Amino acid sequence: MEEIIRTEDLCAGYEGSVVLKELNFIINKGEITVILGKSGCGKSTILKTIIGLIPPISGDIYFYKKKMDYLSESSVNNLYRRIGVLFQNNALLNSLNLYDNVSIPIKMHYPELQKEIEKEMVFSTLSQVGLLKSYNKFPSQLSGGMRKRAALARSMILDPDIIFCDEPTTGLDPITAHGLDELMLNLKNIFGITLVVVTHELRSIEKISDKVIVLKDGAVHFSGKYDKLFTLNDSFINKFFLKE
Ligand SMILES: Nc1ncnc2c1ncn2[C@@H]1O[C@H](COP(=O)(O)OP(=O)(O)OP(=O)(O)O)[C@@H](O)[C@H]1O
Ligand SMILES: [Mg+2]
Repeated sequence: MEEIIRTEDLCAGYEGSVVLKELNFIINKGEITVILGKSGCGKSTILKTIIGLIPPISGDIYFYKKKMDYLSESSVNNLYRRIGVLFQNNALLNSLNLYDNVSIPIKMHYPELQKEIEKEMVFSTLSQVGLLKSYNKFPSQLSGGMRKRAALARSMILDPDIIFCDEPTTGLDPITAHGLDELMLNLKNIFGITLVVVTHELRSIEKISDKVIVLKDGAVHFSGKYDKLFTLNDSFINKFFLKE
């Protein structure tokens, strides 16, 4: 199994508050890894640290076995081209329509790209997420599920190696959530994309995960297959799932 991301004794957080302590995990290429943990335990912080939005306090992050140097512009740019992110709050720009939101990564990384090619990329991606007809709508004119799919489209646009999805189905009705799960499975099965998904939805975890990472007190409490979670008889895990 090829590793795509590995953290080594990663310690991360914000000024005055350490959220993640000695975090060690591996994301394997071609798999869907689900990250679980109580609200506020640091799931979004992991994503923000890996993509370089907040600098690690100590420890290392490896991308394709190469240690990331977040101070090097070329290293970070290379990472950005190969990683897509669906942020927990979608992070769509309200003043831009769907087409312009989804084309942001193209404009950032390939500003010289011909408009015709850009158009083809945007429309084919919007079509994959079922939003082709809404290309000229603004975020305020979209439903919650449509906004999630729009954010997913933007994360997919540069055909990344890996996509991080922070709570992609939270707050959606079961049918819409099911549609997003199918989309993520297609990204893995058809396009070979690696996904890291933060979610609380049990049905979703069961359906999409190859591996589950459970966080507790800033460290990895469990890492393995979903089925194994329930054979452990671990009080933290039992309580966590009973509360869901
Ligand atoms: N910008 C910030 N500045 C300071 N502290 C922050 C910031 N963002 C998050 N935190 C704190 O870091 C901790 C982890 O937050 P994070 O958003 O990573 O949790 P989470 O596991 O994603 O939670 P949720 O399931 O509610 O999304 C929390 O205590 C939070 O208050
Ligand atoms: Mg979060």
